[in-house]
Amino acid sequence: MPLQLRRGNVKPPDNNSVEKKIKRGNAQRQGSWFRRLRGWLLLGLLLGLLLLSAGLAWFYSNSDDDITEVWVRQSHLLQEKKFFEVPCSEDYENYQRYPGCTPQKCGRAVTDTVVTREEAERMRRIAERGLALGGSDGGASILDLHSGALSRGQHFVNIYRYFGDQIKDVFSEEDFQLYRTMRQRIQEAVARTFGLDVSRLYLTKPTFFSRMNGTEAKTAHDEYWHPHIDKVTYGSFDYTSLLYLSDYGSDFGGGRFVFMDGVANRTVEPRSGRVSFFSSGSENLHRVEKVRWGTRFAITVSFTCDPAHAITDPALP
Ligand SMILES: *[C@@H]1O[C@H](CO)[C@@H](O)[C@H](O)[C@H]1NC(C)=O
Ligand SMILES: *[C@@H]1O[C@H](CO)[C@@H](O)[C@H](O)[C@H]1NC(C)=O
Repeated sequence: MPLQLRRGNVKPPDNNSVEKKIKRGNAQRQGSWFRRLRGWLLLGLLLGLLLLSAGLAWFYSNSDDDITEVWVRQSHLLQEKKFFEVPCSEDYENYQRYPGCTPQKCGRAVTDTVVTREEAERMRRIAERGLALGGSDGGASILDLHSGALSRGQHFVNIYRYFGDQIKDVFSEEDFQLYRTMRQRIQEAVARTFGLDVSRLYLTKPTFFSRMNGTEAKTAHDEYWHPHIDKVTYGSFDYTSLLYLSDYGSDFGGGRFVFMDGVANRTVEPRSGRVSFFSSGSENLHRVEKVRWGTRFAITVSFTCDPAHAITDPALP
């Protein structure tokens, strides 16, 4: 259109040389117009290719994978507790209700301010020393200082019976004191978060240290990665907590905790000193990813509202 107008403006052509100049001018303008068009087309094509490859990459990374959201990252030191409320499942209705304890509010929390990294390291050393006395042939070993259960080969032994008085060379009074302090602080955090009477919440079994690595499972006890509901697995559980004793990404790979919410899988990346706790019903269906490399240490501390299922803190015999 602008070309037409310009041409119209210089009409009528009464001079040959003038006409040639105009034609040359038009040709040049047309040339630069085409060059620009070609430039835009190329750019468009490149952008299109870029979008297409990004789309394909997204499609392939998601087609056989799930929707996974990182809820709490290892590298993120939480200054404040993170809480996510989930409506309570009906699981609790099959049990007696204990006022001031039975979940009225359900959900999950993560905090990095209840246990220090130094305390977590001391706890990990307790686990390392104890587990060095045994260890599963498969990838998952446990040590329960309450019952004395320790994975050994494809079975369990009772360290208090098996090692007798010698266990005092392995664990000290300070170790048990630290254990009690950690348990008490976690219990207070659970009570505060869910609005409970802390004295109506009881430690229950199993409460144990775990050590996991990439060795193939030998027995069902080694298969920690199956989705499960704590209240279904252990009827007495009302609140489950985990204290992580090693770091995802530097001490081990895989091994993230996953809340399976139907709409998404939401992960908690373990961090030494991080405490994660949640109401134990179906509202918190979860699993632990297989550990791919390194060693993952944690301690599971479980609570019940039912005094009949209460256990006492562990103590040296
Ligand atoms: C969550 O992960 C499981 C496997 O671990 C998968 O079967 C499921 O589809 C995932 N859920 C979503 C919403 O991606
Ligand atoms: C897992 O730990 C055990 C005991 O320390 C060790 O024998 C085994 O080689 C480890 N496996 C891997 C894959 O690191």
